[in-house]
Amino acid sequence: MPIEVSPLRDDLSFGAKINGVSHDVLRDEAVRERIRQVFDDRGVIVFEKVEPTDAMQMALSSVFGSLKQHPVEGADFDESDDGTGALVNTLDPKDCDIVEIDGKLYSNWLPWHFDHCYTDELNRGGVLRSIEIAPNGGLTGFMDGIVLYDQLPRELREEIESCSIFYSMDMQFDHITYGRPDNFQLVQLDWHWIDIFKQSRTYPRAIHPAVWTRKTGEKVLHISPWMAEGIEGRENDDGDALLEAVSQEINRIGNAQAYFHKWEASDMAIWDNWRFLHRVTGCHPPHRRAASRTTIQGDYGLGRFEQGGRSRDLVLERAAQASSKAGESLS
Ligand SMILES: [Fe+2]
Repeated sequence: MPIEVSPLRDDLSFGAKINGVSHDVLRDEAVRERIRQVFDDRGVIVFEKVEPTDAMQMALSSVFGSLKQHPVEGADFDESDDGTGALVNTLDPKDCDIVEIDGKLYSNWLPWHFDHCYTDELNRGGVLRSIEIAPNGGLTGFMDGIVLYDQLPRELREEIESCSIFYSMDMQFDHITYGRPDNFQLVQLDWHWIDIFKQSRTYPRAIHPAVWTRKTGEKVLHISPWMAEGIEGRENDDGDALLEAVSQEINRIGNAQAYFHKWEASDMAIWDNWRFLHRVTGCHPPHRRAASRTTIQGDYGLGRFEQGGRSRDLVLERAAQASSKAGESLS
């Protein structure tokens, strides 16, 4: 086998490193199958010393599936399609969010979450690379939901296990309800969030199980404290207290036991979005950071909307409304 697979870190039960990937090597179906096996088993893969190009990122993504259209315009925050199918996210402290935690300022900070929690279909994952690396911070954290489930205190685990969680597309950091860090405040708001917030008011809330079971039998704690709005059937003080307690445990366990990746220009990483949570540690202003990510299609089949229906229908409905509005303005 022309690729070399090794543990991401010897003390972790998840994650792998792969070396030796190239365009030529990826033409070999046996290699592609081996990479998929590692992904299913370990959940996060860091590919080292790969050609740092869009073409390579696309070739690597194709191992895992086809690319997904985004369910809602602009909902992946400040990202723009560069024409290749990868979304480029450039954050400049001049106009991006800046938060203060314990008296320190951070730009490009993101709390623990999984992608697309605000809609019914969960993408399989994404291939990520760092295009502009900040000289401090900007690490991407990956936390295994299987470990989170095992490590969650028993009383909380038993109570949250059968719950389902509401999510909305409201991503503003000053609206974070659950898992808010201590001594946290938003210092500067990126205007993109306001547009997304407006869209969130007409987009139905999505619901995902707090815990789900993989085909291989492991239970996964899969809660995104960011964008969570409450527990289905328990939107009351008691339910809110439970979700807050679990979210703070996710912060505590995640921050202590996650893998935090320090980027090199020749790295690419993929994570299993059905199993892992991820976050970004933030950089200290004034440094910029830019990352490029593909979104790989798929669905674990357990998400739904509060009022029924599917996101595919919503996309079609919105397209029809837009085309009808365009027709009205022409007539
Ligand atoms: Fe994300």
